[in-house]
Amino acid sequence: MIATKLPINVICLAKRNVFATALRTVSTQAKPTEIKVQDQTFKTDDWTNATPRILELVGRDLHKDPNHPIGILRDLIETRFQNMGYTFYGDFKPVVSVYENFDVLGFPADHPGRSKSDTYYLNKDTLLRTHTSAHEHECFVKCPTEGYFICGDVYRRDEIDRTHYPAFHQLEGARTWSRNNFENEEQMLTKIQQDIDAIPKTEIVVSDTTPPFDPETNPKQSYMTDKETALVGQHLKRTIELLVNEVFNEAKKSAKLAGSTEEYLNEPLKVRWVEAYFPWTAPSWEIEVWWKGEWLECCGCGVVREQVLTNSGIKDTIGWAFGIGLDRIAMLLFGIPDIRLFWTLDERFKSQFKEKTISTFKPYSKYPGTTRDISFWLPESKEGFTELHENDLMEIVRETAGDLAESVKLIDEFTHPKTNKKSQCYRVNYQSMDRSLTNDEVNSLHDASRSILAETYGVHLR
Ligand code: DAH
Repeated sequence: MIATKLPINVICLAKRNVFATALRTVSTQAKPTEIKVQDQTFKTDDWTNATPRILELVGRDLHKDPNHPIGILRDLIETRFQNMGYTFYGDFKPVVSVYENFDVLGFPADHPGRSKSDTYYLNKDTLLRTHTSAHEHECFVKCPTEGYFICGDVYRRDEIDRTHYPAFHQLEGARTWSRNNFENEEQMLTKIQQDIDAIPKTEIVVSDTTPPFDPETNPKQSYMTDKETALVGQHLKRTIELLVNEVFNEAKKSAKLAGSTEEYLNEPLKVRWVEAYFPWTAPSWEIEVWWKGEWLECCGCGVVREQVLTNSGIKDTIGWAFGIGLDRIAMLLFGIPDIRLFWTLDERFKSQFKEKTISTFKPYSKYPGTTRDISFWLPESKEGFTELHENDLMEIVRETAGDLAESVKLIDEFTHPKTNKKSQCYRVNYQSMDRSLTNDEVNSLHDASRSILAETYGVHLR
């Protein structure tokens, strides 16, 4: 049972509905027995925490809209990698199994990413993918070329602010070489070197102090030789540098066109490599881009673990994979100040963007925001209540106020010295991107969130 669609600009008319919906879904007592997502029905259970508002986003497919900033960015990247041996996928549905999202990639059973506070579950076996890596398994099985790209919407329970939204987009890439295509290792290494040499050169300034692998901090896999590991790593790094070069040089052009005169915009693009850890790659890295005076984490990657390939029925093969988030980059490219804007249905947003064109967003409004605080004592005994995680509070606000919640921040926390009771205060900024909000409307949304919080988590409101 998904709530009927509520365009955000009619929320005030329907606020009683919103309140009811939120109560129904956030509180554990009133969970529907089934939920329907994209024509598939799922039985709910103790794990179910995907809310109607989140499920409304499934199927919007912003990455498939050629006139939407996310679609334009995807096209920019995919165009750069045309005719280089990659197959481009964009149609995988975001509902995947726990196996695809975690197990097959080697996530340990106690990995925090698996928890209900971080991930939207439809039930204990099914979830909204938290990353496009969930499709690596399937793509390794079916991809007809040596490499592939996957683009899709991904979902994470997260904080609320201008750069975090529970749905965002990722682009995944992978590339393999099969030992069976070569007579010996030498021949294979020569081919990988040729493939590296064929990657177009960039002007990018790269700082890389990470070795091809490090037995202590970033080990290689025993099924690969040192040379294989080194060359696959190089191919990976040059490929990602090409991608980053393409995207961030466009972002620079667009910042200049928008009138920015900051010095770094006239300097060559600077990136650095750092070691990282992902359960399904070894060794692993992250690339960071120097942007507006700070290092911006941009893309995780590594040499694919053998077990991911063998789980897909692929033997004697080596390769790499990466995953990059698109939304924050699109915010830079198009000068978009708030991540919520990507999801607005307002024509004043949508009509500004055209296929294959990077343009700077012109704000059509500056509607004022208004803040309200939620202060409470956490329950002394958790009996009968679930423990409150910060993301649960975020979810209540999100479910009640939707995109009218611009940010939620913990602004105060203390423990009473005598009673040992713990108090928290969160500040919610309500601000619409499309219209002015009335005090009554904000009060009503805020009261609804407070009530749900008290009812579901047993907090004592102050
Ligand atoms: N899935 C990772 C994330 O969401 C990103 C990533 C890292 C993808 C390394 C990869 C990879 O394919 O090899 O943070």
